[in-house]
Amino acid sequence: MADGQPGSSAPEVLPGAAETAHLRVDNVTKRFGAAKAVDNVSFAIPRGAFATLLGPSGCGKTTTLRMIAGFYDPDEGDIVLSGKRINQLPAHRRGTAMVFQDYALFPHMTVKDNVGYGLRVAGVPGKERERRVAETLEFVGLGGLGHRWPNQLSGGQQQRVAVGRALVVRPQILLLDEPLSNLDAKLRESLRWEMRELQQQLRMTFIYVTHDQDEALSLSDWIAVMNQGRVEQAGTPWEIYYRPRTEFLADFVGAVNLVPAIARDVRGATAVLAFGGARVPVGLPPGVSVREDQEVRLSVRPESLWLASAGATAQGMISLAGTVARRAFLGDIMRYWINVDGREWIVDQADPGAGVAFEGSVSLMLRPERAHVIVPATPAELSSG
Ligand SMILES: Nc1ncnc2c1ncn2[C@@H]1O[C@H](COP(=O)(O)OP(=O)(O)OP(=O)(O)O)[C@@H](O)[C@H]1O
Ligand SMILES: [Mg+2]
Repeated sequence: MADGQPGSSAPEVLPGAAETAHLRVDNVTKRFGAAKAVDNVSFAIPRGAFATLLGPSGCGKTTTLRMIAGFYDPDEGDIVLSGKRINQLPAHRRGTAMVFQDYALFPHMTVKDNVGYGLRVAGVPGKERERRVAETLEFVGLGGLGHRWPNQLSGGQQQRVAVGRALVVRPQILLLDEPLSNLDAKLRESLRWEMRELQQQLRMTFIYVTHDQDEALSLSDWIAVMNQGRVEQAGTPWEIYYRPRTEFLADFVGAVNLVPAIARDVRGATAVLAFGGARVPVGLPPGVSVREDQEVRLSVRPESLWLASAGATAQGMISLAGTVARRAFLGDIMRYWINVDGREWIVDQADPGAGVAFEGSVSLMLRPERAHVIVPATPAELSSG
């Protein structure tokens, strides 16, 4: 399979990350019985990055995190920290600390003792331990709650205890497994920013696991999207959202229009996507090649489209004749479903105002530079994957 194609085992790196990587996962596989929970995964994370593993339930996120933490041994491949292979190092000597999906607080210990646990295990003397626990409790906003028991805390407070317990040992890398998933939507959103602020303040490398694409997009410097044990694509949030390599990815990270089209006039890194009577010139993403007359998908996000009155044209835009099938007022946007040549396109119009809704015949306006090409996986690729 060519480099950069879906399913490729080429390492996914931020520019410059390979040389300076704080943590590298090299061709790592983990099997449970016959099933591969993690299948030949590679990536590199620069020091001080907020890195996120994003993917649906069961795709191998926790298993990957546990191998980095040292709770599982990989069957194949290497975990490399600051250039050194650490496969053989026990968990407590790796410089990593983990916040677990269900927090895993000790119910029979007070908040203070939960937070101090790692220091006690490491043999840090009493006075020093007390000082560091107090400092950490202040830092995570739990000053004064040290004597409570876990069952006397709200979900958000329990989450802070879990973060404090991980931070108190001063790890180099903090591993967080869906730390906000047990909280209600409002709290989740406010704690999201606290997570990012915490990471910036500590200048620590974070590896964060979530299945929530908004959380991943808003928090991360770098995202690896996993699917069925593999890294489907890795890159900046912007690349993942606007330059998805696969239909799975395009769909997983938000609403998208995926329109069947034929590649024409293929020249180097450009092609023209033809569908209906329209021709949309696009640039090909790095590592992606298409053949003349190949069937591909034009991918465009709903907020990258505009509506205008029927027959309208505008310089630099492609205008498609459509009719409004239905619309929904979502508060911040009006979402339209526009019928073009028997296919429905989703179009989001920001700040819809009052009394300006489109009806009947319209022009659907598309700026070619906001469109993107996705090459569907061939049957051969699917069966080898
Ligand atoms: N200890 C285990 N024994 C057997 N199978 C396991 C074990 N741990 C995980 N698996 C399987 O490996 C696959 C990946 O699991 P993993 O927990 O890594 O997924 P995940 O991405 O963290 O999912 P979720 O979002 O639901 O937490 C799943 O099919 C799971 O059933
Ligand atoms: Mg998990």
